[in-house]
Amino acid sequence: VPLEEVSIPLFFGWFLLSTVQEKVRCTSMDFLKTLDTLEAFKKHMIDFTGKTEKEVDLEQYFEAKGSLHCTTKFCNYGKAEGAKEYAMKPAVRDFYGSTSELSLTALFVTPRTVGAQVSLTEEQLLLWPGDAEKEAASIVPAAASLPVGSRAHVTLGCAQGVEPMQTGLDLLEILALKQEGQQGETVEEMELGPLTYFGEGRWLLCLREPICAPACFSSRYK
Ligand code: A2P
Repeated sequence: VPLEEVSIPLFFGWFLLSTVQEKVRCTSMDFLKTLDTLEAFKKHMIDFTGKTEKEVDLEQYFEAKGSLHCTTKFCNYGKAEGAKEYAMKPAVRDFYGSTSELSLTALFVTPRTVGAQVSLTEEQLLLWPGDAEKEAASIVPAAASLPVGSRAHVTLGCAQGVEPMQTGLDLLEILALKQEGQQGETVEEMELGPLTYFGEGRWLLCLREPICAPACFSSRYK
């Protein structure tokens, strides 16, 4: 087997440097801690519990999954569609091992996942697979018409039994609603920014000051 084929990783992405991982985790924890105490959240608690009387502790509800990163291409060791092409892209080779600053512009929570939206720069978009949004269209139909890079995110936690891949789909769902003209219901001005509810347990906190997260473009073999 040629080396090229065996060396394709599980996934490529930007890996947050350890100091900023700590900061992002703390911000996320503080947000969850505050969110489940808000009256507006309690009003819609049923989205998370299925029962009105039950309380939910969001900090316990989500499990953290490994070190924080923003996946660009899930390759599955070459088995995923377009994996080899991606691994051979000149930009991927040129930027491999380089550090850049990811801008985390919002936090979002659904009954399945909690994550941070990443707003990519023009240069970072060179590393974004052009079909990432279209690929999700079988699950989130409106995703195909969202701008390239819309799916970029950092998974911060998943509910029990939920795979991290769900986080990007949850983000696309919220962005699709926004694009369709749904403004959501801005329920509260939090310290970090305005908090909006989009129904079905979907919450979006736009960060007044985006978090600047230095990250290294690299890959993981598991
Ligand atoms: P995400 O990027 O949303 O966090 P796993 O641990 O399940 O093998 O996945 C490794 C990483 O690749 C995770 O970060 C995960 O989600 C992402 N991922 C897994 N499967 C897919 C997929 N089919 N499409 C896009 N990203 C995926």
